[in-house]
Amino acid sequence: MHTGSGTDGDGGGAGGALEAELERLQTVERFDPPPGFARRQPYAADVAAAAADPLAFWAGKARELLTWQKPFTRVLDDANPPFYKWFDDGELNVSANCLDRHVAAGLGGRVAYHWHGEEGERRAVTYSELLADTQRLANGLRSLGVVPGDVVGIYLPMIPEVAVAMLACARIGAVHNVVFGGFAPSAVRERMEVSDAKVLITVDGARRKGRTAAVKAGVDAELGDLPKLEHVVVVRSTGPVGGAETVMTAGRDVWYHELLAAADPLCPPVPLSAEHPLFILYSSGSTAKPKGILHTTGGYLLGATYTHRTVFDIDPETDVYWCSADVGWITGHSYIVYGPLSNAVTSVMYEGAPDYPDYDIWWRLIAEYKVTVFYTAPTAIRACIKWGARYPERHDLSSLRLLGSVGEPINPKAWLWYHQVIGGGRCPIVDTWWQTETGSILISPIPGVTSTKPGSATTPLPGISPALLSEDGEPVTEGTGVLVITSPWPSMLRTLYRDDERFVQTYFSRFGPRTYVVGDAARLDADGYFWIIGRIDDVINVSGHRLSTAEVESAIVAHEAVAEAAVVAQSDEDTGQAIVAFVTLRGELVGDDAMVSQLRDHVAHRIGKLARPRRIIWADDLPKTRSGKIMRRLLRDVAEGRELGDVTTLRDPAVMSALAAKVATAP
Ligand code: PRX
Repeated sequence: MHTGSGTDGDGGGAGGALEAELERLQTVERFDPPPGFARRQPYAADVAAAAADPLAFWAGKARELLTWQKPFTRVLDDANPPFYKWFDDGELNVSANCLDRHVAAGLGGRVAYHWHGEEGERRAVTYSELLADTQRLANGLRSLGVVPGDVVGIYLPMIPEVAVAMLACARIGAVHNVVFGGFAPSAVRERMEVSDAKVLITVDGARRKGRTAAVKAGVDAELGDLPKLEHVVVVRSTGPVGGAETVMTAGRDVWYHELLAAADPLCPPVPLSAEHPLFILYSSGSTAKPKGILHTTGGYLLGATYTHRTVFDIDPETDVYWCSADVGWITGHSYIVYGPLSNAVTSVMYEGAPDYPDYDIWWRLIAEYKVTVFYTAPTAIRACIKWGARYPERHDLSSLRLLGSVGEPINPKAWLWYHQVIGGGRCPIVDTWWQTETGSILISPIPGVTSTKPGSATTPLPGISPALLSEDGEPVTEGTGVLVITSPWPSMLRTLYRDDERFVQTYFSRFGPRTYVVGDAARLDADGYFWIIGRIDDVINVSGHRLSTAEVESAIVAHEAVAEAAVVAQSDEDTGQAIVAFVTLRGELVGDDAMVSQLRDHVAHRIGKLARPRRIIWADDLPKTRSGKIMRRLLRDVAEGRELGDVTTLRDPAVMSALAAKVATAP
């Protein structure tokens, strides 16, 4: 125990020492690197080298940190912006960088993942074991007809097989397309269909808080008739679900363990061009159609490896690292799988929820595995604050030396609690800003070097050039503006899968093909620190998960009772933002509680539980301009309880007063 008595909202203890300390900390504007923090990586040289010559810096890092089967001679090809190529005449294999080179260096016995199951099961998976399974699965996939460039879908919970599946694809040049386990099978279907996936790797069942969901059965119901999907590989994880044996379709379905058992144990890593596609990860954009963000081999791996090492100050010999994200998001790709494995680190991988079997499970794991570096999201920290400091205080968290945050702006209150209660006041916090598109962290403090200010992601990493622009493209040196990145970086997305036009349109149309438009607004303070404000497009950030208003709207409208719907974000203390849906029903139908739950279930079924609207507001009509465009700005005002903006451009201004009255009385 390393803090005062916990009295925060859990009704326990007297004295309020913690509260008093948190209050005092609120007056501290900046936190210098804690004096006791021993830095493990040399940064000054990187900063100087990147400032002097960014391309030479990246080339040097690519040679130092990655193992190439054929060395590159070209660093950046920027002849055809925004279609940049990095190290493209070089060849390497991501799985060889994550596994073979460590085993060859005598590290095969090192634990890659301390896997911890929801019911307390433990599995220590070494680098040698990971390599052995990866080779067998790679051969197994080949036996199913997978060739380089084929897309393989992965729909798995947080079990070690998810890393094996990704690495096996990388080993043979297949392109993985991981879908978050919390998405519904119909969302998986869409992502498999648009990417022409040939094989899907999934699981019999998935556990969540003591219950087991039948995953394979759901997949069968939704994906059974996909013409391009030739095989489904099924990991036996839970065994029969609800007493029902998993149904396997002869000729199409194969058990993962049988595939591995039958496969040749040796599969040499295929040398691939640095620009060979590594994975697609679908993410939400401004339209209902998710964007297939495409990352390639060399640049992506360099970004993940370099930033993981730098931002988390990793020493692979001594650190035990834990990122609490899910592999289904980019954070899991870069900072559970590729970055940590490339750096030969020992990680914790946890299957379950933060509040099961009890609210202290995370802290129990940190104490048990002696975790030194912990990386999580503000929404999780806010939940922990709510549950109370008495849960972390039950455990010895003194192994921790560094804390990270990602996914949304971290409010100073959560930052200070994290700093004090979890970090014992001695751990630097890295508030890391990045996106699925950027592949790796771009703006973040460097621990032990950068002074931090709660709520600011601080300054760019070496080799990265963010800037703020005004609406008309003028540079903003202090104040707010649109966040852009003005030069390419190795781990940037290369395109949107099979949609170059949308790629250019989305990110490079506003300020030209050399200026990447992030989609966030930000503020730059007098010290040159970046403060991310939030999205400027129709993307909602619920608990650090990206959802598009259009995607949720189209799911709601697909319900037979619905005539029209508009979705906006409302700020929320727990989840950052919450979804509010304004819905017009057909004909004489009435919006009652039963209809609310029907619609929420419907959205859960079409997208996933995380997309369920927090509030549904029944509207006789929606505010529209004379040209028929829904004015979401006004709906946001209504949802937030703000005074209404200009309503004069509305076709029927009375619509708004009716709505505002409804919202005032809605739950
Ligand atoms: O708005 C920013 C927010 O999350 C968006 C990216 O979401 P996604 O692609 O799902 O990736 C999330 C994990 C990297 C960004 O455009 N965001 C992410 N990290 C931060 C953040 N906002 C503020 N501070 C952060 N540290």
